[in-house]
Amino acid sequence: EKGGYDYFMLKEIAEQPKAVADTLLGRIDASGSLRLDEIRIPVSVLREVDKVVIVACGTAFHAGMIAKYAIEHWTRIPCETELASEFRYRDPIMDSRTLVIAISQSGETMDTLMALRHAREQGAKVLAICNTNGSTIPRESDAVLYTHAGPEVAVASTKAFLTQLVACYLVALYLGQVRGTKWGDEIQAVIRELSEIGTQVDEVLETMEPVRELARTLATKNTVLFLGRHVGYPVALEGALKLKELAYMHAEGFAAGELKHGPIALIEDDLPVVVVVPSPRGRSVLHDKIVSNIQEIRARGARTIVIAERGDEAVAPYADHLIEIPPTPTLLQPLVATVPLQVFACELATARGNEVDQPRNLAKSVTVE
Ligand code: F6R
Repeated sequence: EKGGYDYFMLKEIAEQPKAVADTLLGRIDASGSLRLDEIRIPVSVLREVDKVVIVACGTAFHAGMIAKYAIEHWTRIPCETELASEFRYRDPIMDSRTLVIAISQSGETMDTLMALRHAREQGAKVLAICNTNGSTIPRESDAVLYTHAGPEVAVASTKAFLTQLVACYLVALYLGQVRGTKWGDEIQAVIRELSEIGTQVDEVLETMEPVRELARTLATKNTVLFLGRHVGYPVALEGALKLKELAYMHAEGFAAGELKHGPIALIEDDLPVVVVVPSPRGRSVLHDKIVSNIQEIRARGARTIVIAERGDEAVAPYADHLIEIPPTPTLLQPLVATVPLQVFACELATARGNEVDQPRNLAKSVTVE
């Protein structure tokens, strides 16, 4: 049932190109527009939405952090992403014009369920992004967009994460489409790129052997840091979470701009630091800033493991290890940048003799608060 792989996690990582294609299936029509009639919230209601709030936990929360960038950029609707376990305890402000998006692979996460119940009590509309048909969260929501990733067995979320991202992009682009905001060449182009993203994920998977080799050499390290900016920041958090849960290592993700406000004090000789570099095209200011961040940490002894777009010559000289990913539009980069981090964590866990599919102390569905 593991399809020839040693672990479900490896199988599920490998299934990602198909999983993202399945999330897109039937949702983009021949003219390149989105067909999301299955979101049964009337278009008239979606046009009136004046705030989006995303609630989720763990890996799904990282997908939600990335969705915030996409939703605000493509729709200009203010969006907040909040940990479901914190949300209702701070008395959040919501009304009938608030769209709450609850993201959950299992559809049974108690914290997320309690957050969406609270949102509905305040009159907000709730859209679930979920992988498990007929589970509690979609049943209790106003609408659901299923990710169609297929069953995810490994405790650590991989294909569910990529498909949650795709579903979030679809929702963001759809809101842009129905509201007519910023709807134009960029959105059309992104839909086209999104429909081909499975090929790029596949390309990344084909080039993972050096990442596995590198991971094995780091098996005796105590700490790995992860840095990113913009949508690379949640990717850094996700890389750190994967390493904690699978390799039981101290791993932390930071927004690279925060380094100088404290974390740079952690840098010491030969400390592995993974840096997610945004495309040098697109938001080039960000790219230049992160290149100087890499120089700063390297000057202090860090061993830099750099995930960058293929052909990014500005960053290559500062990479002790360079992991190249295919070019994508900035907002879609997490779909390709996360994959090496999944492979990295899985290989480190194996090298440390850990149980990959069933990490200690963790359960696949967290049905307690
Ligand atoms: C991490 C992981 C967890 C889940 C979180 C939410 O690899 O799997 O952090 O993402 O418990 O679970 P769902 O998405 O089922 O609500």
